[in-house]
Amino acid sequence: MLKIQFDPKSRFLKNPSVIFLTKNQVASLRSLKLEPLIHDQITRLVKSKRFSAANGEIFPLFINQILILVVGLGEDKKISKTSLRVSVKQALESSYLSGVDVLNIFPHAKDDETICGVIEGVQIGTYKWQKYIHAKKDKENLSTVIIACAPKKIYDDCCQIADGVNYVRDLVNDNSNVVHSTYIENEIKRLLRGKAGIHVDILGEKVLKKKGLNLLLAVNSASKYPPRLMIARYQGASKNSEWIAIVGKGITFDAGGLSLKPTGSIETMRCDMAGAAAVLGILKNVISLKIKKNIIFVIGIAENAIGSSAYKPGDVVKSYAGKTVEITNTDAEGRLVLADAISYVVKNFKPSKIVDLATLTGACPVALGNDYAGLMSNDDDFANSFLKSAEKTDDRLWRLPLYEELKTHLKSQYADMKSTGMPRGIGSTISAAEFLHQFVGDTAWVHLDIAGTAFADGQGRLYFNYGATGFGVRLLTHFLQG
Ligand code: BES
Ligand code: ZN
Ligand code: ZN
Repeated sequence: MLKIQFDPKSRFLKNPSVIFLTKNQVASLRSLKLEPLIHDQITRLVKSKRFSAANGEIFPLFINQILILVVGLGEDKKISKTSLRVSVKQALESSYLSGVDVLNIFPHAKDDETICGVIEGVQIGTYKWQKYIHAKKDKENLSTVIIACAPKKIYDDCCQIADGVNYVRDLVNDNSNVVHSTYIENEIKRLLRGKAGIHVDILGEKVLKKKGLNLLLAVNSASKYPPRLMIARYQGASKNSEWIAIVGKGITFDAGGLSLKPTGSIETMRCDMAGAAAVLGILKNVISLKIKKNIIFVIGIAENAIGSSAYKPGDVVKSYAGKTVEITNTDAEGRLVLADAISYVVKNFKPSKIVDLATLTGACPVALGNDYAGLMSNDDDFANSFLKSAEKTDDRLWRLPLYEELKTHLKSQYADMKSTGMPRGIGSTISAAEFLHQFVGDTAWVHLDIAGTAFADGQGRLYFNYGATGFGVRLLTHFLQG
């Protein structure tokens, strides 16, 4: 694993280095007080017009046979959280650095936001899922990155949090027949081993049946793996302070059930437990950062498979909360698992706030693309604090509406309500949220639809290589730290 260290006395020419420069810095190089040899080389480079510090520019210098990679960040004003992380990723993945073992990084600034950006660019940006690739070893040579700044507690925290992000990516990226319900159960147990102040309940099939979490059970009917509802209560503050519940959708694979997904939609459905995985990553962070809040971590696990024992379109199922639900499409399974998980937690633990993370609807990325997750809420203050954390962490959110009349779409002629709303998939993101809304009662609640952000398809995007992104871990960890 990549080690990150901090050293304010870092010097060029000791190890191969990367130096980040903005356009403004290049315009007055002298003020940077670089070592004369380096200063001269970069000055020459700029004078020869081969480097202007435009964003994306990378130029290798060899001084005394040691590499200095000069990387442009563009104009100061235009450097964003995202662009900085992208620049760091690009620099570290450039072929000039292949074979480098220890690398020094000289950031363009030394404020906390910049250093954390560099840390995330290194850790999150260079993450690649390579478990099943034989030829990976020769690429894996960078062992240590030394950032030229004084060490600080928050930088260590930042490394921990990024570790949590990559932990989630590992869970999501592996096969669904590896990361199944009992695997996830074992992960929770492993995270909690030897930790005081955490109480965990693991509900298996028998108990779920007895207690009547029939929606969760219905979704899992055709799976060979057992269903699970797992609840870890972490007490970081006094018992009487508020409890916040974080609920994750954990569909280990979403084939769609008998409303089977078509080719083209099914291939990445290992990602349908990304909400649950994020909850695990947040739990890992909360433990390592010793966060002083009372938190209930909730994970509902099922597999939406096909077979003669599968639940059927048209079935009416009685939820844990008592309401009967007409299943209009078995591919709308996430809301069913979440409804039972949420109402179980509301009834038995009475948290004052609930947030859920779910790869819930394909309509969410249709509306917002892949860089923003959808936020829906019944509480403006609660919603706004999330929007703030989103800005700070670069786990981006955009709020979508919830309103009274949405619930008319959930009226059923067969049952108390149906599982999907408006016809032809119109508004299915807010309609799914309204379905969940029916189970949260008066509790302040934020719903995060991460269907578009949890997984980077194609060539990857922003500073995420192909596969899982760990969306929500930085966001929620920041929210809980606040
Ligand atoms: N897991 C999917 C949503 C999804 C789509 C996640 C793309 C990640 C990427 C969810 O269970 C689903 O299939 N939702 C349906 C709901 C519809 C039947 C109302 C959808 O979005 O098509
Ligand atoms: Zn589905
Ligand atoms: Zn799903």
